Amino acid sequence: MSIPIVTIDQISQYQGQTVTLRGWLQHKTGKGKLHFLRLRDGTGVIQCVAFKPDLPPEVFETAKTLSQESSIIVTGTVKADERAPGYPGGYEINLTDIQVVQIAEEYPIGNKEHGVDFLMSQRHLWIRSQRQWAILRIRATIIRTIREWLDDHGYLLVDTPILSSSAGENSTDLFSVDYFGQPAYLAQTGQLYNEANMAAFGKVYCFGPTFRAEKSKTRRHLIEFWMVEPEMAFFSLEDLMEMEEQFVSAIVQKVLDKHRYELELLERDITRLENVKPPFARISYDEAVERLQKLAAETEDPEQKALLHIEWGTDFGSPHETAIAEMFDRPVFVYHYPTAAKAFYMQPVEGRPEVCRSVDLLAPEGYGEITGGSERIYDLELLRQRITEIGIDPENYDWYLDLRRYGSVPHAGFGLGVERTVAWICGLHHVRETVPYARLLNHLHP
Ligand code: 4AD
Ligand code: MG
Repeated sequence: MSIPIVTIDQISQYQGQTVTLRGWLQHKTGKGKLHFLRLRDGTGVIQCVAFKPDLPPEVFETAKTLSQESSIIVTGTVKADERAPGYPGGYEINLTDIQVVQIAEEYPIGNKEHGVDFLMSQRHLWIRSQRQWAILRIRATIIRTIREWLDDHGYLLVDTPILSSSAGENSTDLFSVDYFGQPAYLAQTGQLYNEANMAAFGKVYCFGPTFRAEKSKTRRHLIEFWMVEPEMAFFSLEDLMEMEEQFVSAIVQKVLDKHRYELELLERDITRLENVKPPFARISYDEAVERLQKLAAETEDPEQKALLHIEWGTDFGSPHETAIAEMFDRPVFVYHYPTAAKAFYMQPVEGRPEVCRSVDLLAPEGYGEITGGSERIYDLELLRQRITEIGIDPENYDWYLDLRRYGSVPHAGFGLGVERTVAWICGLHHVRETVPYARLLNHLHP
């Protein structure tokens, strides 16, 4: 009978049997007759024991000299051992053979501490390390849960284009490209197309990369980020908040279910995540400003006081968002922002047009805005007026205005930023680790 080739995550099914594993040498220790090779194969990590009497002499000699990240194919028997390190853990391999695929050159990422700039320059290799493995597995689950939840709740995935002829969100942060002699822009959002799709399918979402040529260097900003954007016909702001709290809670609870090991590896305090269940608190922008002003007045530290300072009418900066979020034990909705601080398509509040039917969801622990959304203007004249007011050409929005001509309905939607959500759930300081290859103001390679 031939020896089965298996992956580390399946190892418990092969207790007592001889198997072959294929992967990379993460770490090696030992001396004399006994060497421990920690093998990773992408699905997990397992300790392989090279004991001199069990191996052909030349193979044992090879084992002793293998360099970190060498690619190897190993064969051995699976032995249960509760204390065995690795993931899923609980098993080790008593080696009977090692085949070398390639001996790695001296690996640039060692066990010593490296600076972030260096690690970012080695991102194509850094991505192999344990922390990055944990983060990107959680990211994949978050993305999968986003899709599953929406698919299961009557939302249809309708893709929106990345290249477009006009701005989707604002005219300042646009990346332009040459589209056969005509200017085109990389999508900042799929929203405007989503609104057309909403009128065709009722409840839709788009999910893809979006681009902002923002000169921001904060720990929350990427130049290229992934956003999921649901858009719903006949939804009010209240409907939107109810849906969002269910959706975000489902994402967090799924990660808690599936990724205890990864969260532990990241040293994430999960008690804060366990709170993330509906209902979330809802406060108006007015109330948020009042609370911030009160907090600023009570703060003695002048630096902190200056950071918390806010005048009614301005958008929140991250110190404001952090301070508001700290007042609650789970994410908090802030609604009815000043119209002037938000995008042109947001529905004004009846009788109080200086504020609009918008809502941002602020994550706890300083992670800031993770979703932004609103009711959309559905009156043709009002929308045309807003477009003209902000100084963009209504001609470019002819098809968008059409949606207000042919069966216009009240509707609402939002966008959730994947990387900020990953940063929050994983408890990471910076969004650069939440995406395989981050695009930052000063980082494009690799
Ligand atoms: O608030 P934003 O700009 O909203 C929109 O683009 C709407 N058109 C969405 C909609 O209503 N369909 O972005 C939505 C979310 C933010 O809350 C944040 O999580 C994320 O996208 N985001 C960013 N994430 C990383 N880097 C950036 N530069 C981001 N800008 C926004
Ligand atoms: Mg926003």
